[in-house]
Amino acid sequence: MKPRVAAVLVAAGSGSRYTSGESAEPPKQFLQLRGRPLYMWSLSVLVRHGLIDRVVVVTRPDLIEKIEKDSTGMPGREKVVVTAGGSTRQDSVRLGLELLSQERPSFEIVLVHDSARPFLDTEVVDGVIQGVTACGACTVGVPVSDTVKVVEQGIIKDTLDRSKLYAVQTPQAARFAWLLEAHRMAVASKLAVTDDAALLEHFGHEVRIVEGSPHNFKVTVRGDLEMCEALASIFLKD
Ligand code: CTP
Ligand code: MG
Repeated sequence: MKPRVAAVLVAAGSGSRYTSGESAEPPKQFLQLRGRPLYMWSLSVLVRHGLIDRVVVVTRPDLIEKIEKDSTGMPGREKVVVTAGGSTRQDSVRLGLELLSQERPSFEIVLVHDSARPFLDTEVVDGVIQGVTACGACTVGVPVSDTVKVVEQGIIKDTLDRSKLYAVQTPQAARFAWLLEAHRMAVASKLAVTDDAALLEHFGHEVRIVEGSPHNFKVTVRGDLEMCEALASIFLKD
């Protein structure tokens, strides 16, 4: 039988590296890309995916209504719920998981995706679902093509073996019970990490990596939206 699969789309950040402190602007995940807010691009891929049963969008409390309104009428809308996030990404993911944990029948698998990565494609979602089904925990990543150095106060201290390095992206996926438990234990032990794979690793789970896509980058700093516009004009023919 098909496992019950949920996704958490995190959209509660303030985008401080993007706005460089000018908080009057909407957070980056609400920037318009070809007439649609950025978060909507990956949301529509997640809700249209045949294996995904529910998508929780986690956002700032004052933006919940906006997302509920913006998503009205989109194909797959019946799978969407919107809830409030927290002050860190980790808190936002956990709050999404807690909401999902109340639903019956329970979810077996969960994917977590950054709303600031608009170019999520269905093949990447397929890959991560296959990986998590086989291994219990899985993330997408891309091999690093630059040589990476460890630098302290402007001086190189070490050169890392590039053949072992991956830059990780989202979606990151795990057995639902594993990820929820890891998040709850992290709160109890005041453990703060930047991604879900790190939490799973910390609590002893093996995390498989499957190949992501260079287009699946995260809008982070000024100029990244222009990169999205350029990619959209090359790849999207609609
Ligand atoms: N995120 C979230 N809740 C937070 C912080 C981040 O849901 N409290 C989400 C963001 O909305 C984003 C994703 O996590 O889609 C990845 O985080 P990041 O790129 O760091 O976004 P921000 O935290 O918003 O940006 P910055 O770190 O520059 O402030
Ligand atoms: Mg951040």
